[in-house]
Amino acid sequence: MFRARIANVADLERRARQRMPRFAYNYLTGGAGDSASTHRNRRALQEMVFATRRLVGADIRTEVKLFGQEYSAPLGVAPLGMANVAWPGLDLMLARSAREARLPFVLSTMATTTIEAAAEAAEECFWFQLYIAKSDEITFGLIDRAREAGTDVLVLTVDVPAPSRRNASIRDGFELPLRYTPRLLADLALHPRWSIQTLLAGAPLMRNYAAYAKSENTQKVGAFAGKRNKFGTTWDDFKRIREAWQGRLVIKGISNGEDAARAVREGADAVWVSNHGGRQLESSPATVDLLPAVRAATPDNVPVFFDGGVRGGEDIVKGTALGADMVFAGRSFAYAGAAGGQAATTQCMEILIAEMRSTMAQIGLHSPEALRSAPVFFGQEAERMVPGKAAE
Ligand SMILES: Cc1cc2nc3c(=O)[nH]c(=O)nc-3n(C[C@H](O)[C@H](O)[C@H](O)COP(=O)(O)O)c2cc1C
Repeated sequence: MFRARIANVADLERRARQRMPRFAYNYLTGGAGDSASTHRNRRALQEMVFATRRLVGADIRTEVKLFGQEYSAPLGVAPLGMANVAWPGLDLMLARSAREARLPFVLSTMATTTIEAAAEAAEECFWFQLYIAKSDEITFGLIDRAREAGTDVLVLTVDVPAPSRRNASIRDGFELPLRYTPRLLADLALHPRWSIQTLLAGAPLMRNYAAYAKSENTQKVGAFAGKRNKFGTTWDDFKRIREAWQGRLVIKGISNGEDAARAVREGADAVWVSNHGGRQLESSPATVDLLPAVRAATPDNVPVFFDGGVRGGEDIVKGTALGADMVFAGRSFAYAGAAGGQAATTQCMEILIAEMRSTMAQIGLHSPEALRSAPVFFGQEAERMVPGKAAE
């Protein structure tokens, strides 16, 4: 019944919005300031339209090889800090669904689930995202734990030089632990499923930091993580991480060709174009507009990843056509978990891949490689999309 009434991610979002307390929905959806760059990411994707070619059959293949592994599509789950605020148990739902679907799952340093538990759930699809801490004990402790948990892929996020101001959450007075104001109590009472499940699961806790804070108290761990996180990381920090990590190192949050080229020179194994879902800088360009220049500045044998505003299979096709080897989504998957738990996170992955397949058939380009080697876009977008003609 539930499955039949969901056609796409927009349906999942509508349902999630009904079920989530307002402060949790605002935390998940909100961007920097009044969210202009979050909307810009989406708008830029929506405005691009496809060229089509006919009489070419429809034998579609979405599988890709990356870092020596086969994934079922160029689609992955982006890291979400405090994911269990969106819905209790979200991290693990996503980890399990990603493993079933054979898609990469990236756990955040600020996750509400431990590295060890998420790695067990995601198995070989598990990647870990690192924020550098002020103390080496924490930074290198997290790296060791990720390695011991069996992952080969470390994602270093570099686009949070300072905390940002997200107006919706500021207005909500959102902070952990929750302050039980009359407004919050009303919000919780109106969303009993979230409230009861959170009560049963325990308040969302930054579980990876809990070990270093030596506490299970949400407030203490939150304050500890806030103080120990090293904002404003530098290329020197990057070098130290590169030296310490023998596996694949991905740099996330790159927005121009110059930084991309330098990251590769300094030893990055992949470059991830992202503006953190528009959560850091309100006047950030749409990430899809940044992708061609980053792809052009990155050597062909170094993968480029992309995220920002991906809500459907057509968006995955667009990112792939612009040279992304893997396209990630954050909020789409969180909406799914909040809308309908594990069944819905699995369904969301199925929908996105089904939409991607259908799009590839409609435009007549039948594999990720084909998308990257032929003109894909129609109209004024077409020129810069021709491979080798990417805008700087
Ligand atoms: C609630 C939330 C928490 C996030 N936390 C992190 C994080 O801890 N680390 C990180 O690298 N990116 C984080 N991001 C950014 C995502 O990894 C990703 O770049 C972004 O969500 C992509 O945009 P989309 O949500 O429009 O798909 C977060 C995003 C959201 C929405």
